[in-house]
Amino acid sequence: MNVHSHANALAPSGAGPFSSRPTARHLLGLEGVARESLLALLDDAERDLAHLSTDRSPTDELRLATVVIAMFEDSTRTRVSFQIAAKRLGATVSTFSSHGLSLSKGETLRDTLRIFEANGADVIVVRHSSPGAPAYLAEQVDSAVVNAGDGTHEHPTQGLLDLMTLRQAWGGRFDGRRIAIVGDVAHSRVARSAIFGLSTLGVAVTLAGPATLMPAEVERLGCTLAGSVDEAMEGADAVMALRIQRERMEAGLLPSLSEYTRVWGIDATRVRRMKADAVVLHPGPVNRGVELAPDVADGERSVILDQVANGVAVRCAVLRHCAGTPRAEGSGTSQSGRRAGGPAREAA
Ligand code: CP
Repeated sequence: MNVHSHANALAPSGAGPFSSRPTARHLLGLEGVARESLLALLDDAERDLAHLSTDRSPTDELRLATVVIAMFEDSTRTRVSFQIAAKRLGATVSTFSSHGLSLSKGETLRDTLRIFEANGADVIVVRHSSPGAPAYLAEQVDSAVVNAGDGTHEHPTQGLLDLMTLRQAWGGRFDGRRIAIVGDVAHSRVARSAIFGLSTLGVAVTLAGPATLMPAEVERLGCTLAGSVDEAMEGADAVMALRIQRERMEAGLLPSLSEYTRVWGIDATRVRRMKADAVVLHPGPVNRGVELAPDVADGERSVILDQVANGVAVRCAVLRHCAGTPRAEGSGTSQSGRRAGGPAREAA
């Protein structure tokens, strides 16, 4: 996977040739990840969710592993759920934000990650504002690298938790389903990861939003572009509202937030255009009353809190996978005593 080898990893321009380090396993994006690999991770996450709901004591699955969570951009959900997941699996966990690191003294990002590696990090979780930064760093360290969101590129663990939430809402069936993704798709790493994962699993994706916030590559992404939010949501099995960032107005891409809400906002009337059992997703943080009406965000169709809850389970599955530590079936724990980062296990 991408989860696969870094030979397939997206390289930022100017990064130079990438060498191969066969022992590390990364999750850099969902683009190109095989259906079987996605489903294997989702199945593993479902087992984690079931186990979390019955037994909150930590396991010893990553007892010998060190997980470093390096957030060079703000985060609440992703940071907290990776911390909980890593502790849940018994790992040693260190969390950093860019504030307080020696980056402020001129140290490079590469050297910063090599410090983490030299301190024994088996898995480094990285969020960074530059698209391709985790892929670049994956080539620089022997630790496994997990992309926790890189600029406008991808947010693969968010994509996985979105897939998990939809699979639960849809009774396990992806084929033949259709989702509307509404808002600032052009700048959304959440949308890109969701589109890659959903398309691989046979879900049709309709995009809707202001033309200035639509990607130029709609066809290449395999999506359909709707002319209005009503058209996109008509008969859909789900809608994903994306966060509207105020800086888009400052950049001249949006006339005003109130105009956006009137034309593209998702309210109860628009929700009723979807199928009777369709659900509403939002990656958070939500601008209530802008992209999503408060009664929809809190309504019975909303699965926003399910997304958050599934985040811990997905990140347990991803950390276990990237650390190369298979789950021991039946026990909820894996084979302890093996150092993470050892020979890669192929995902089923
Ligand atoms: N969905 C998401 O990535 O949220 P955070 O920015 O709070 O991590």
